[in-house]
Amino acid sequence: MAAAVKNRSCGASSFIFLFSVVSLCQSLFSGGDTFQRKLSVELNPGSSSPPPGGDLLHVRAVGNNDTLHFLFCSQGAPTLLLVHTDTTSSTVKVNWTQFIDRNHSGGLQVEPETSILYSTALVFSRLLEYDDVNDTADPTSDLLPPYELQDFSWSRLNLSGPTALLCGAAATFTNGSLCLQLSVFEAEGRDQSWPRLLHTANSSQLRVWLNGMSPRASHSRFLLELQSVGGASPLSRVEVHRSINDEYTPSIFKVSRWVPFVNGSSGAPGFVQWKPVAYRRSEPALEDATPCRHSEPRPQSGGATESGLVRGFYAEPETFVLNVSFGLAGEPFYNSTKFLSWALLVGSGSPPVDSFSPLVLSTMAVGLGTPMILLLLGGVCVCARKRTVASATAYEPIN
Ligand SMILES: *[C@@H]1O[C@H](CO)[C@@H](O)[C@H](O)[C@H]1NC(C)=O
Ligand SMILES: *[C@@H]1O[C@H](CO)[C@@H](O)[C@H](O)[C@H]1NC(C)=O
Ligand SMILES: *[C@@H]1O[C@H](CO)[C@@H](O)[C@H](O)[C@H]1NC(C)=O
Ligand SMILES: *[C@@H]1O[C@H](CO)[C@@H](O)[C@H](O)[C@H]1NC(C)=O
Ligand SMILES: *[C@@H]1O[C@H](CO)[C@@H](O)[C@H](O)[C@H]1NC(C)=O
Ligand SMILES: *[C@@H]1O[C@H](CO)[C@@H](O)[C@H](O)[C@H]1NC(C)=O
Ligand SMILES: *[C@@H]1O[C@H](CO)[C@@H](O)[C@H](O)[C@H]1NC(C)=O
Ligand SMILES: *[C@@H]1O[C@H](CO)[C@@H](O)[C@H](O)[C@H]1NC(C)=O
Ligand SMILES: *[C@@H]1O[C@H](CO)[C@@H](O)[C@H](O)[C@H]1NC(C)=O
Ligand SMILES: *[C@@H]1O[C@H](CO)[C@@H](O)[C@H](O)[C@H]1NC(C)=O
Repeated sequence: MAAAVKNRSCGASSFIFLFSVVSLCQSLFSGGDTFQRKLSVELNPGSSSPPPGGDLLHVRAVGNNDTLHFLFCSQGAPTLLLVHTDTTSSTVKVNWTQFIDRNHSGGLQVEPETSILYSTALVFSRLLEYDDVNDTADPTSDLLPPYELQDFSWSRLNLSGPTALLCGAAATFTNGSLCLQLSVFEAEGRDQSWPRLLHTANSSQLRVWLNGMSPRASHSRFLLELQSVGGASPLSRVEVHRSINDEYTPSIFKVSRWVPFVNGSSGAPGFVQWKPVAYRRSEPALEDATPCRHSEPRPQSGGATESGLVRGFYAEPETFVLNVSFGLAGEPFYNSTKFLSWALLVGSGSPPVDSFSPLVLSTMAVGLGTPMILLLLGGVCVCARKRTVASATAYEPIN
């Protein structure tokens, strides 16, 4: 009788143990977000002919009871504007006469104005080049005259679905170009190429690459100057968080988030997020990865006047500016491959956070699971043995 009870409790504890392992695995695997948005793409809304000075792309991403408007424009410096509204019926209205003049606010409006929850713009303002003769990767050393992106001649937008490609070059580039690719998503997923950033339906991805241009010095390295423009809560500081190093972004342990200052416990209304890595080839191997660094964001007065979108949408914007520099001391210079590519996310709400990938999970499962199964088997054996011993003793009195 006692033996039977003991035996049952043995079985039960093994079962509970197994069950908790399985449920732990399940909770690690799930966490996939099923939220979706309906996308619609419009080029130069309200204009019958391609406007002079560059295209304006409008991607509408409609959720259950809100809308994200992604606006991407090459009138002046290339700019992405994200506007979050609390209705599914908000619209974008452009007065092309005013918008093209680029000298007053109101050329582009999101209506109704009261539906706007949050807006932020990211301006790609300058490409900086320096001659790193002593190989110190110090971007203040021998700065060459900067390239103003508003002065580039930009191509028309090349659209394929919710993805747009924009390439341009300075008049002084003998060869090559700087390209920006915007992708907007209807659901959570991951990009095909490194750093394989995780995106959601609330974020868009921008990939920037500098391909085939001839550097002006023999030891050239580059920086990109970015401006964030916002109304109520501009992106004012960069937080660096630990991240998981897995097969999606090998050897990178950090993620950088450019976020607004938020007072209180309410979550951030928006973000720009990137992994601090760029790649020296379009189809990179691990050794083509090159770390990048950012400078502290600095407030800038006057607003991003070089951007048509910022001029058209904001009346009195607040602007912060930072540099992202590519490459560290001792690493190959730009001329080694004449290619550099970097990616970032721009979104509303909280930024997506990487969780363990299935590969890492199965490795962990094998690594942890095997000893656990052995333990479990060991437990079962001990139980079984106790039972035989118990039954043996139980029968003894009869002999
Ligand atoms: C939007 O819908 C979600 C559920 O789908 C609800 O929780 C939320 O309160 C709604 N927000 C507004 C502003 O109506
Ligand atoms: C656009 O702006 C111009 C100049 O301010 C104005 O004259 C014109 O009426 C506006 N057009 C529309 C359709 O509002
Ligand atoms: C904007 O520029 C246009 C053409 O360059 C000019 O006619 C107009 O007066 C300017 N408006 C303002 C408010 O500066
Ligand atoms: C960006 O880098 C350039 C060159 O080093 C420097 O002159 C400029 O002040 C930097 N801007 C910011 C915001 O740090
Ligand atoms: C490079 O190093 C030399 C010798 O140490 C020094 O004189 C020179 O100023 C350095 N150049 C730069 C751009 O730092
Ligand atoms: C547009 O992009 C596609 C791929 O994204 C490319 O194959 C095509 O050549 C591009 N067209 C132009 C005119 O650049
Ligand atoms: C520009 O590209 C052409 C064709 O790819 C190449 O022959 C030429 O050498 C390049 N010029 C420079 C300055 O790199
Ligand atoms: C995206 O935004 C919607 C609406 O604001 C929200 O319900 C949803 O949870 C967000 N999804 C993520 C992954 O942040
Ligand atoms: C944060 O909020 C509290 C209470 O709402 C206020 O007293 C404080 O001044 C705020 N701080 C900043 C920096 O805005
Ligand atoms: C790049 O420039 C450096 C310095 O001039 C030179 O030593 C190196 O050979 C160049 N690399 C390539 C691939 O041209």
